[in-house]
Amino acid sequence: MIRLEHIQRRYVSDEVETTALADIDLHVEAGEFVAIMGPSGCGKSTLLNTLGTVDRPSAGRYLLDGDDLAALPEKALARFRAATLGFVFQSFNLIDELTIEENVALGLAYRRDRATRDRRDRVAAAMDQVGIAHRARHFPHQLSGGQQQRAAIARAIVGDPRLILADEPTGNLDTANGEQVMDILAGLNAAGATIVMVTHSPSHADLARRRIDMLDGRIVASAMRAI
Ligand SMILES: Nc1ncnc2c1ncn2[C@@H]1O[C@H](COP(=O)(O)OP(=O)(O)OP(=O)(O)O)[C@@H](O)[C@H]1O
Ligand SMILES: [Mg+2]
Repeated sequence: MIRLEHIQRRYVSDEVETTALADIDLHVEAGEFVAIMGPSGCGKSTLLNTLGTVDRPSAGRYLLDGDDLAALPEKALARFRAATLGFVFQSFNLIDELTIEENVALGLAYRRDRATRDRRDRVAAAMDQVGIAHRARHFPHQLSGGQQQRAAIARAIVGDPRLILADEPTGNLDTANGEQVMDILAGLNAAGATIVMVTHSPSHADLARRRIDMLDGRIVASAMRAI
């Protein structure tokens, strides 16, 4: 499904050059659940943002189902993101002024292919799936951290994405809420979604089928979990 070839990402500011990704080769098959680990600053978020096409590599190729994404203009990339990707972040990133159901509906904002009735049903189903339907009319600040993250997951999955990118999705949660979020992600993977997740938690990484370790912008280990 995904193939990164010799991906590099350099940042230049005030004459200082930082190499966030030095030389990344990565294949992800459809249906995989991959965990990415490594010390702070090693390039995990940059890699995830590159996979999500919100960050453009300085060099290298990104092939999705054999198509070179680097060749696509921004508009086509935005369409690709809306149709294919679901993002989950450490800090939830819900919009404070919108209710939970309005936030979840944002996950469909760029999909014009759906009738209003169908959109409402999908939003309700996504909230149901993560157990926050009873908070639909509440605002984010009225929810616990775990509930907010589940709302963010509902927003990520409401459009039925093939690929879910999660950057430390349990980083701001206590153990119980973190486990609930991991159960949801494992369930989505079992239902067919491909997941790439950054985590600092070895036990959460163990739920993934494959674990990748990064250091200084490189992948230094990649291991399948025995089942
Ligand atoms: N916009 C930017 N401008 C300059 N340097 C950046 C920028 N974004 C990231 N970097 C640098 O790129 C490197 C990789 O950052 P990245 O956010 O990918 O690390 P990370 O592995 O996700 O770390 P953490 O575990 O702390 O989230 C770091 O050295 C960082 O300082
Ligand atoms: Mg990060």
